[in-house]
Amino acid sequence: MARLSKPLDATATGREAKAFGAGLRELIAGQDEAIEQIVSVYQRYLTGLQEPGRPAGSFLFLGPTGTGKTRIVEATAELLAGTARAAIKIDCGEFQHSHEIAKLIGSPPGYLGHRETRPMLSQEALDEFHTEKVKLSFVLFDEIEKASDALWNLLLGILDKATLTLGDGRRVNFSHAMIFLTSNLGAAAMEELLRPRLGFAPAMAHGPHDQKIEKAGLEAARRKFTPEFINRLDRIVVFRPLGEPQLREILEIELRMVQKRVFQSPSAGPFLFKVTRRAKEYLLREGTNEKYGARHLKRAVERLLVEPMANLIASGQVREGDVLRVDFDAAKGRLLFVVEAEGVPAYTLAEMAKLVPSRAAAA
Ligand SMILES: Nc1ncnc2c1ncn2[C@@H]1O[C@H](COP(=O)(O)OP(=O)(O)OP(=O)(O)O)[C@@H](O)[C@H]1O
Ligand SMILES: [Mg+2]
Repeated sequence: MARLSKPLDATATGREAKAFGAGLRELIAGQDEAIEQIVSVYQRYLTGLQEPGRPAGSFLFLGPTGTGKTRIVEATAELLAGTARAAIKIDCGEFQHSHEIAKLIGSPPGYLGHRETRPMLSQEALDEFHTEKVKLSFVLFDEIEKASDALWNLLLGILDKATLTLGDGRRVNFSHAMIFLTSNLGAAAMEELLRPRLGFAPAMAHGPHDQKIEKAGLEAARRKFTPEFINRLDRIVVFRPLGEPQLREILEIELRMVQKRVFQSPSAGPFLFKVTRRAKEYLLREGTNEKYGARHLKRAVERLLVEPMANLIASGQVREGDVLRVDFDAAKGRLLFVVEAEGVPAYTLAEMAKLVPSRAAAA
């Protein structure tokens, strides 16, 4: 054996993990750390190096409201399982009493309601969206600080042994599941740190301010949760407050999703809408609110763009094959809708919306 000293690059991932990371970056603005951590755990899972008898990955997400904690789990499911519905969501606050816990794990045989509905955490529910290529499940426990003791014990068992025993004694295997936990813990302390920043938050650089926010989150988690619990987690990630560049990116993501909805709607066309720069600025101004993160922006898009467009469709003013320009009417302080072209073939519209590859580029 020849002696070598060949340096390797342990940050390079395989093709699948790389594509997954690129997909996440298209759907999620900012939150680079969260993306990196999920990709890294996915890569470990793909190569079979996960700890035996543990879930494929476990994450605790902290950070301000409306910054993408839930969205990143949906996006992960979308990219790996083909649909956001593959993410099983459990609002911990809703499972306080034993009859509520029964919705998760079922009740013992003979009990009222046994076999009536499939428990949310059965093996079938977990495996439902497995594909030929990806046999992974995604389970999200939201607001774990609200979990009852009974739920907490279930959760610890899942994290520790990757198994859960159902009411009727059957065992569910979680070793092909990624477990995501979110908590608003420390949110108050984080908000306090955010308060001086009126208007747009500065860019999401890893500045001293963000380090303080991160620290506030981690400290709150250490105070509330036992070391046993913290030690069972693969990763704890503090989501960052969204700054102006991220909100701009989210607006683009949201507009693309609205365009997709138009293409998928049975009654809406398809037609294409183009939003001018001034209209985008208006939507950003209307949709910026430090406290609610991107939720406010989403609501602004629904109220100011989607709902008026629904009226235009219902009243027959916008038809299949139309190209619509959405501009800002400064005098009236609202969006202005103008038909720019008619009778454009659906495929051309989809090309223009970049929803399908362009034929010109392929030729
Ligand atoms: N970083 C982001 N990238 C893309 N979209 C985002 C991002 N953050 C928020 N959004 C948008 O805002 C919506 C609300 O965000 P999300 O549900 O992920 O918030 P959250 O962090 O889970 O908040 P909460 O703590 O209140 O549950 C998402 O559905 C998504 O459309
Ligand atoms: Mg959430």
